[in-house]
Amino acid sequence: MAKHSGGWWVPLLQNRYLLALLVMLSVSTLVAFFVRAGLDACDRNIEVVDKQVKSVPQIASKPSPLSFMKSKRVLLVSHQLSLSGGPLLLMELAFLFRIVGAEVYWITIQKPSEEDEVIYSLEHKMLDRGVQVFSAKGKEAIDAALKADLVVLNTAVAGKWLDVVLKEDVSRVLQKVLWWIHEMRGHYFKLDYIKHLPSVAGAMIDSHVTAEYWKNRTQERLRIKMPETYVVHLGNSKELMEVAEDSVAKRVLREHVRESLGVRNEDLLFAIINSVSRGKGQDLFLRSFYESLQLIQGKKLQVPTMHAVIVGSDMNAQTKFESELRNYVIQKKIQDRVHFVNKTLTVAPYLAAIDVLVQNSQARGECFGRITIEAMAFQLPVLGTAAGGTTEIVVNGTTGLLHPAGKGGVIPLAKNIVKLATHVERRLTMGKRGYGRVKEKFLEQHMAERIAAVLKEVLKKSKSN
Ligand SMILES: *[C@@H]1O[C@H](CO)[C@@H](O)[C@H](O)[C@H]1NC(C)=O
Ligand SMILES: *[C@@H]1O[C@H](CO)[C@@H](O)[C@H](O)[C@H]1NC(C)=O
Ligand SMILES: *[C@@H]1O[C@H](CO)[C@@H](O)[C@H](O)[C@H]1NC(C)=O
Repeated sequence: MAKHSGGWWVPLLQNRYLLALLVMLSVSTLVAFFVRAGLDACDRNIEVVDKQVKSVPQIASKPSPLSFMKSKRVLLVSHQLSLSGGPLLLMELAFLFRIVGAEVYWITIQKPSEEDEVIYSLEHKMLDRGVQVFSAKGKEAIDAALKADLVVLNTAVAGKWLDVVLKEDVSRVLQKVLWWIHEMRGHYFKLDYIKHLPSVAGAMIDSHVTAEYWKNRTQERLRIKMPETYVVHLGNSKELMEVAEDSVAKRVLREHVRESLGVRNEDLLFAIINSVSRGKGQDLFLRSFYESLQLIQGKKLQVPTMHAVIVGSDMNAQTKFESELRNYVIQKKIQDRVHFVNKTLTVAPYLAAIDVLVQNSQARGECFGRITIEAMAFQLPVLGTAAGGTTEIVVNGTTGLLHPAGKGGVIPLAKNIVKLATHVERRLTMGKRGYGRVKEKFLEQHMAERIAAVLKEVLKKSKSN
């Protein structure tokens, strides 16, 4: 029934087709979502929206909470520029600043020596919006840092730039540095990166668990003290919300994706949408999925045909782990139930097509996990590991169900899959409550308000120095 080429490969959705589809539906905004390909646990999961293509003028809305940044000079320091969560999030902030009339400067620390198409296109996107893009090493960068009202260092790794470029001027800049941290892995706790952390004006971290972890690790490992630390949960972009709230667009996307996967409208579709890697737990999810099929068969439960889709494959990068996943599927003879989709720029169609999002990140979990709030915007319940930022987003029993990370979570997740498969009402109610939670806490406006509160503190501090 599936139109799979070479077994269970699913044809990648054609972006152009989807865009045409959205235009046809006269959705006001064209969207392109980037699944990030960052290096670290927290960096890999955030999807960001490209806001460039707008066909309808912006609807007048509340004034931006960041309007006090008008005419302020802001230098944004990114460790790299790619379609990964960290840099794209910083770009979103750059555009929020531009909208309120701040002067925004951007530098990228690590750049490949040869021409790079992605960097070129992202830089032009910024230039179009009036962001001034400088080289990380030149005099311009130093001047911008010295004259700035605010410097935002993005990710722990960006810390190296302070000494290398600013040299003896470092101390003049630290008091206006806000350090935005999105990672939670051991190898970032190196003095090389973060020795100036105690002296900056503030640290902004995506979740409470991550902030606790940083506090603990800097103290225990490096004997340094965190600066004033602010937890800022992320929010969904307006563009994502527009698609999520457009029932016609959602229906068309759902039909299209399901058809391409060979999944019928009445079937139940569970998905993981994350770069494929052991840390994201696709292997354990497949085991849970298999176990859930066994449970259903064993108890002779009446449920719709269930499918699993893993969005985020990259046969080039992760061959060993990818092969392991595919071998498992063959070994358990569930090829007709499990679908692999390549990493894609567009996640909205998949969110429109599925019934349940599985967030199976392992160990310390996600730093935040933006896909979780994106799924909730689409009224999907979330089955997530009780780890990291997921515990701050998903309300266990209300907007989803949590299971332990690690092998010990395989059976609990399998049982939760069965629960949602058998209790239709409960599943739908959880999705609706998740949506309600997003509207209450996880919109761009909320994120901007949270960031504004932090910036006011940070600016106060830098002024008094
Ligand atoms: C998925 O990616 C792999 C490796 O990059 C490529 O060979 C394959 O054709 C892609 N599949 C689809 C359906 O696009
Ligand atoms: C830090 O974490 C370790 C174990 O993860 C714990 O034993 C220790 O008490 C924690 N320290 C602080 C200061 O919270
Ligand atoms: C989530 O709730 C279920 C009951 O609904 C409970 O059994 C489980 O222990 C809870 N998990 C966490 C991590 O709170």
